[in-house]
Amino acid sequence: MIREFRIPVPGMKRITVCHAGDFHLNCADEVSSDDEKKRAEEAAAEWEMIRRDFAVSAGEPFGEEQELPPEEHFLRALAAARECGDALILTGDVFDSVTPANLRFFDRAAEGAGVPVLTVCGNHEDRDSIPPGRSFSPAREPVQVLRLGGLTVAGIDDSRREITREQLAALKKLLAGEDRIILAMHVPVLTDGARESGKIPDEYFFLNYGGCPAENLELIRLIRDNAPKFAAVLTGHTHTAMESEIAPGVTQYTVSQGIAGNVNRYVIGE
Ligand SMILES: [Fe+2]
Ligand SMILES: [Fe+2]
Repeated sequence: MIREFRIPVPGMKRITVCHAGDFHLNCADEVSSDDEKKRAEEAAAEWEMIRRDFAVSAGEPFGEEQELPPEEHFLRALAAARECGDALILTGDVFDSVTPANLRFFDRAAEGAGVPVLTVCGNHEDRDSIPPGRSFSPAREPVQVLRLGGLTVAGIDDSRREITREQLAALKKLLAGEDRIILAMHVPVLTDGARESGKIPDEYFFLNYGGCPAENLELIRLIRDNAPKFAAVLTGHTHTAMESEIAPGVTQYTVSQGIAGNVNRYVIGE
C-alpha cells in the first residue's frame, strides 16, 4: 500500500522520496546450508504471525495482498521508488537478522534499484556484524548523507536507542549548510501526538524513554531549535503507521511494517 504525502517547501525543486522499512527479511538461497535454510524458514514463520498481530492491533488492513512474502514486498518497494521516486529511504529492520543470504539478497536488489538507496540499521541489524563493502549501509559514519538537489537526507543509526555526541556534531554541521534536511532513523521520537493517539503504549518503541541518555533529548531539542531547516523526520520500528509533529512544521512520518507491503511516498518542494 502506497500512502502519499505532500511536503511543501517554497523555492525548492520538487523531489519525490519513497520510504519503507521493517521488512524483516529471512532469505535463503541456493548457497545457504540446510541449517541456514531451516533457521530462515522458522524465523519467517514466526514473523508471519507477528505481522498479522501488529496489523490487527493497529487497525491496519491485512488481507491477501499483505500476506505476500516479505521479499516480494521489498521488491515492490524498490519498484515503486524506481517508477515514481528519486530515492528510497529504508529506516531499518530490513532484515530480521543479519545473515549471509539476507546480505546477498539485498546486494542483488540494490544493484538493480535504479535509484539511490539509503539504509539505516534497525535493532534487528547489528551494525558490527555487517561486513564492509556490502550494499546495506551499516552506518559506520555518525551520519550518512544522501544529497538530492536542495535536499539532504541524513541517516542516523539510533537502533540501540542511544544518540552519540559524534552524531549530534555531524548533524549540526549539516544544519549549517543551505539544504533542507530529512532525518532518517529507525526508532521514532515519542511526540505528544503519538502519545495522545495511544497507538503504541510501550516506551520501548521510542527514543525518549524514561531514563534515556541526555543525547537523545538533545537530538529532539536540536530538531525543535532548527525546525525551519527540517523537511521531515522518517522513522520505522513501531510496525504501525503514525504521523505527528515533533516541532511546528516538522512532521515525523513513521512508516508501517514493510512485511505487510507499506510504502510512504513524499512529494517535497514547490
Ligand atoms: Fe521491526
Ligand atoms: Fe525495530
